[in-house]
This record gives sequence, structure tokens and C-alpha cells, in this order.
Amino acid sequence: MSQSNYVKKVAIVGATGTVGSFIVEELLGLGKHEVTAVTRKDSSSADSLPAGVKAAKVDYDDESTLVDALQGQEVLIITMHTLAPPETTLKLVRAAAAANVSYILPNEWGQDSSDEALSNDVLLGGPKAATRKLVEDLGKSSWIGIITGFWYEYSLGFGKQTYGMEWKDRTWTFFDDGETKMNTTPETEGGPSLSGYKNKFVYVSSFLLSQKDMFAAVLRVTGTKESDWKIEYESTVERFQAAQKQVFAGDRSAFPQLLYSRTFYKDGCGNFEARRGISNDALGLPKEDLDEATKVAVDRNEKGLKYH
Ligand SMILES: NC(=O)c1ccc[n+]([C@@H]2O[C@H](COP(=O)([O-])OP(=O)(O)OC[C@H]3O[C@@H](n4cnc5c(N)ncnc54)[C@H](OP(=O)(O)O)[C@@H]3O)[C@@H](O)[C@H]2O)c1
Repeated sequence: MSQSNYVKKVAIVGATGTVGSFIVEELLGLGKHEVTAVTRKDSSSADSLPAGVKAAKVDYDDESTLVDALQGQEVLIITMHTLAPPETTLKLVRAAAAANVSYILPNEWGQDSSDEALSNDVLLGGPKAATRKLVEDLGKSSWIGIITGFWYEYSLGFGKQTYGMEWKDRTWTFFDDGETKMNTTPETEGGPSLSGYKNKFVYVSSFLLSQKDMFAAVLRVTGTKESDWKIEYESTVERFQAAQKQVFAGDRSAFPQLLYSRTFYKDGCGNFEARRGISNDALGLPKEDLDEATKVAVDRNEKGLKYH
């Protein structure tokens, strides 16, 4: 750790990726951090890094390149493609321990990983738990898991599989009654600090919304009326089971439906704000505007933009 009250040297995997590019932009904006992008040696990502970000090229089959890349770093942020083999992350964790990196923020950035039933049902729990366990077993670094819920603008723009809206057809499918709320952290004593969040999850959220809240927002920002829309209702459990069957049969295209329908279960798993508390205020996060975010989502739909 540096002597200052903030960490200076931050390495990030996925600096040009969907989530990582936003993190890098925020880090650079603070003007306090030296940001290093850990990037595969044959990837073109290094060519599109923002000014001020250094590239450390690595070969995941050669641990020494990972250790070299992480030498002197205080924090390692991992925003790795979801389909990268889980062993890739474990290699990073071992290298971070060898390089004495104090903090690892592993691939989380989604639903509440402290809910074991949810994590296992959405097939993401095993690799994430193995990562946290390895960090703890090696004992050199601490993990901090950032739980954000789903990304509102992207998810609303994704279609029926996620939040149920098909903008172009003006169709909205409500899961169950459409009123299950979902976050789209417990605060530490003495204010927020990295050391206060060691080996813990940190929960942040922009909005706590049901699908009907989202529908109301879309009506507001688009000037459409309820009668302009075709409304359908489907059972969340049946949607989850149908997606699970497809995914188990090898059809990964149903994965978003599996993930989102499970998180809309009526057991409250999506409302981590009620279960765990959120750290928005402690972290000084700005309040966001639902209608602004909804406009972005509608625009994404208009342009046919999808996640990936
Ligand atoms: N809450 C949400 O709604 C939400 C939305 C999106 C993502 N996420 C989560 O955020 C995390 C990051 O996802 P993302 O979509 O941002 O990732 P991404 O953009 O798909 O990929 C990030 C980076 O992973 C690296 N990568 C790709 N394939 C790899 C491989 N086989 N081995 C090693 N590295 C590889 C690439 O970096 P280089 O080319 O530089 O090596 C790539 O730029 C995931 O945990 C995902 O679940 C959450």
C-alpha cells in the first residue's frame, strides 16, 4: 500500500471491455491513479486504450508474464469476458499473490453472489466462489466483490429475455405480476475504505425497480400510452425452467433468460438493497435519474444495440 490514503497503482483486466472501459474512464477522471491494462499479448485491445493507460501484455500460459505485469500494483480489477475459462482468473489470482497485490476485485459486477441458491442456479456461483477461496487460501491479497445488480440501460435494451420489453413490437412481458422489485452494502465502520471491505461484498445500486416501474418510466419518456402496448404475463419459474433446459442442452442463447428470470424470483434475491443494504451514500455515489437512463435504453433499442 502507498503511504497516501488512496491506492495509486491499479491494474485492470478488460480495460477496453464492456464494463472495464467505464471503470477506466472513472479512474482516469479522478486523476489520482496509474492505470495499467493487463491484456493478452495477441489481443488488439492495447491499440485502443485511452491515453494515460499503460499496457502490460501477458500470456496466460506463462505465469511469469502475469507476475511481471502485476509487480508493484496495489489493486487488480478483473472484468474478464464471461466465457473465458475459469482457470484464467485463478492464474491471475496466483500471480497477484506472488506479486503481493493487496486487493483483487474479481469478476462480479452483477447479481448477489452471497446468495448461494441464486448463484448456483445461474451457474456462476462455482467459479466465483473458487476465486474467492483461492485468494483467501493464498493469504497475500484480499478480495472485494462489487455487487451492482444488472445494468439497467443494457438490460432494458436487451428484449424479452431480460426485463421483458420488446420496444419495436411494443410488447412487454411481465414475469408473474411484474411487481417483483430488483436492484438494477453494508456500510463499514469509520467510513468507507478498501481495508474495511476486505473479503466482503460491496453492494451498490442505481435503482430499485419492478418491471412495472420500468414500464411506467418507458411510458413517461416515450409519450406512449398503455393502450399502445401488447401486455403479456408469464410465470418466472416456468421461464427459468425453460431457459435452464435449453442451456443444459447446449443452447447458450437462453442464458440471459435463465439469469434474469431466476433473479426475478419472488424470494427477494434481486432486492439486495433490502437484504444487505447498499453503500451508495458511504461511497458518495451520485443519485441517478431514472428517466435519463430509460432514454438511453430506448435509444439502444431504436438502434438495435445489444449487449455483445
Ligand atoms: N451487471 C451487468 O448487467 C453486467 C453487464 C455486463 C458484464 N457484466 C459482468 O462484468 C464482467 C466483465 O464482463 P464484460 O462484458 O465487461 O467483459 P468483455 O467486455 O466481454 O471482456 C473483457 C475482456 O476480457 C478479456 N478476454 C476475453 N476473452 C478472454 C479469454 N479467453 N481469456 C482471457 N481474457 C479474455 C479481453 O481483454 P483483452 O483483449 O485486453 O485481453 C476483453 O476485453 C463479467 O463478470 C460480466 O458478468 C455485468
